Amino acid sequence: MIHTTSLFTLKDKVAIVTGGAGVLGSAMARGLAGAGARIAVLGRTASKVERQADAIQAAGGDAIGLVADVLNQDQLEKARTAVLHKWGRIDILLNVAGGNRPGATIGPDQDFFGLSIPDFRQVVDLNLLGTVLPTYVFAKPMAERGEGAIVNISSLTAQQPFTRVVGYGAAKAAIDNFTKWLAVEMAAKFGEGIRVNAIAPGVFIGEQNRRLLLNEDDSLTSRGETIISHTPMKRFGEPEELIGTTIWLCSPAAAFVTGIIVPVDGGFSAFSGV
Ligand SMILES: NC(=O)c1ccc[n+]([C@@H]2O[C@H](COP(=O)([O-])OP(=O)(O)OC[C@H]3O[C@@H](n4cnc5c(N)ncnc54)[C@H](O)[C@@H]3O)[C@@H](O)[C@H]2O)c1
Repeated sequence: MIHTTSLFTLKDKVAIVTGGAGVLGSAMARGLAGAGARIAVLGRTASKVERQADAIQAAGGDAIGLVADVLNQDQLEKARTAVLHKWGRIDILLNVAGGNRPGATIGPDQDFFGLSIPDFRQVVDLNLLGTVLPTYVFAKPMAERGEGAIVNISSLTAQQPFTRVVGYGAAKAAIDNFTKWLAVEMAAKFGEGIRVNAIAPGVFIGEQNRRLLLNEDDSLTSRGETIISHTPMKRFGEPEELIGTTIWLCSPAAAFVTGIIVPVDGGFSAFSGV
């Protein structure tokens, strides 16, 4: 008989979660800890990453906080040194840090020519370079050992552009491309032990998009209503609903899976609107 629980174990694996103090990243970090992984919660604010690491420790896991900006190679390299000093290895990288800026989205009364080019550049930098750079730094020890799992965070907007959301959608489309490119590169140059995949979450209420989706009284905005009407399950996602896919992609259960982007979206990407 195949013992299926051992297929999904991450016991003693060392995982770095960028954006690990955020809404989705903290749930994914807790999920990996629950599967047995040691967690380095990486973010820019010491108090936030330490609070998350403490919460994981309080729940019986093993965790540390790491302060680094995903766009700062020097800080990322210092974080890598700290993890290798503490645990001696890096097995898993979740590239969750990312997000949008108002100026990279066309306002309701604007058109393309109202786009802020500096904001567009910052959003592309955060989402694309903010994934490439941590991968460049943290995947090095994985490549040296020929073993590791990388999970990037895409979005529904990567393949089905949302109206107005120009910078973020372009950056997440680039994440899909980078995920596939890196999967091929790693398998070709470092062997089958390094896998690179992505999750494309549907719409989850977070700090960044709350006011776009919900009014002050928690009723849906018209944007929120449009999204729900295009979601066959008729609701937003709960952050914990990303945990199963995350564990699967990082675990031996996905040993032959690389270069894919898994939607976790209540059916949004399957629905044509008709
Ligand atoms: N919430 C959604 O509906 C949704 C849907 C699809 C994709 N996503 C993606 O999921 C990821 C997490 O989103 P979230 O909703 O949890 O947002 P969030 O704002 O709660 O989390 C993002 C985290 O990244 C951190 N971060 C931002 N810039 C950083 C930087 N330069 N260096 C280090 N850390 C940085 C933030 O401090 C925050 O902790 C993002 O990549 C987002 O684009 C979210």
